[in-house]
Amino acid sequence: MSKSAKLILGENEIELPIIEGTESEKAVDISKLRGQTGFITFDNGLGNTGACLSNITFIDGEKGILKHRGYLIENLCEKSSFLEVSSLLYTGKLPSKTELENLKNQIKEKSTIPEGIKKLIKSFPQDAHPMGITSSAMVALSGHYPHLLDQDLSDQQKEELFPLMLGQLKTIAAAVYRHGQGKDFIESNPELDYTADFLYMMNGDKPSDAVAKALDVLLILHADHEQNCSASTVRVVGSSKANLFASISAGIDALWGPLHGGANQAVLEMLDAIQKDGGGYEKFISKAKDKEDPFRLMGFGHRVYKNFDPRAKVIKGYCDEILEKLNVEDPLLDIAKGLETTALSDEYFAKRKLFPNVDFYSGIIYKALGIPTNMFTVMFALGRQPGWMAQWKEMLEAEGMRITRPRQIYQGKTDEKL
Ligand code: ACO
Repeated sequence: MSKSAKLILGENEIELPIIEGTESEKAVDISKLRGQTGFITFDNGLGNTGACLSNITFIDGEKGILKHRGYLIENLCEKSSFLEVSSLLYTGKLPSKTELENLKNQIKEKSTIPEGIKKLIKSFPQDAHPMGITSSAMVALSGHYPHLLDQDLSDQQKEELFPLMLGQLKTIAAAVYRHGQGKDFIESNPELDYTADFLYMMNGDKPSDAVAKALDVLLILHADHEQNCSASTVRVVGSSKANLFASISAGIDALWGPLHGGANQAVLEMLDAIQKDGGGYEKFISKAKDKEDPFRLMGFGHRVYKNFDPRAKVIKGYCDEILEKLNVEDPLLDIAKGLETTALSDEYFAKRKLFPNVDFYSGIIYKALGIPTNMFTVMFALGRQPGWMAQWKEMLEAEGMRITRPRQIYQGKTDEKL
């Protein structure tokens, strides 16, 4: 294939280089387009725009493939822990046994949050949304670690940040949960692994291996998803050389929305609404298909996956297993199963390639684990943090790194007189 593309703009023809990715993705490089022609490109929602070159995650939405650093997500879920995958994302390789032990020990040392952060969390109304508290606590950490706010961080500072952020967010998330329950905070238990410790700080009990494993897999499944809304936000904020605490806090805010991470909460709220309405999910499917009605089936559809979401496939297996192990009987689960089966055989959803995404099932598992609905997106943030950090680090270290500053096509009034 030709290594350049020709673009005809009126009388002019210009040549634009073609960039090819290692998985054969192709892009037309328009970096010089404006300089050479005065034209910019317009791409609503940036669905056709490659905003960076990346070595972290590969997705083939048509084939339903997700890989981190070349490893298939299905294999990582089966053979690796959340900490191993986190390390893979951030450092570029799976840790050796010794490296993993070191990381675990470093995280244990960093799993106590400053008193000021505890006070900040407690200052929020008990019914405040956990995402707002988590984002505030995250940016407030910047005040407690001033030596990590330099504009240009050294390799050593970046190394220090990794276990620190993993340890702090785990404890913040558990404390935010306890605050919502009106309960005292529980200190981290150094005998437990990452996910088990998180559940311990939430509930005060050591979780069973099956429960800890299910949550660990959920965290892996959320660990990174290339240039999604929150990862892009982290990159954009970080590109101004704002510190990592501010960048991750902004990522948490982007994740909060119901079209992104907030979808797991929205799924449960939708199932609840269907139950309160009498349980007839067919009516809600009709609403979702009605173009006059803004209602959408939450947990269905994906910007990138147009065949199936490989994460949903993995988690569906764990979902059935965990529900059986926990002996959960819940009418919402029956509604979810009915909704899934009916929507999958409906022409509207088939034609638009709308399948259940990972959040359709994750909410069901969180509910079975007894986690309140408004905490679901915080669980997502805990899983996504290593991905955000990997994207942030890669962005800062990229050759020719520049502040992100898109352009626009002005459509407003001109020449108004005062
Ligand atoms: N229910 C009903 N119809 C839908 C849904 C849905 N959940 N999702 C998309 N559609 C329809 C649209 O109305 C549109 O129909 P049209 O072609 O007749 O106009 C078509 O499918 C394409 O939809 P777009 O909005 O163009 O798809 P886009 O890629 O922009 O949006 C998104 C993807 C935001 C995920 C969308 O499918 C959605 O809103 N889903 C529900 C929210 C959700 O589950 N979000 C979680 C995403 S996964 C994650 O963040 C981990």
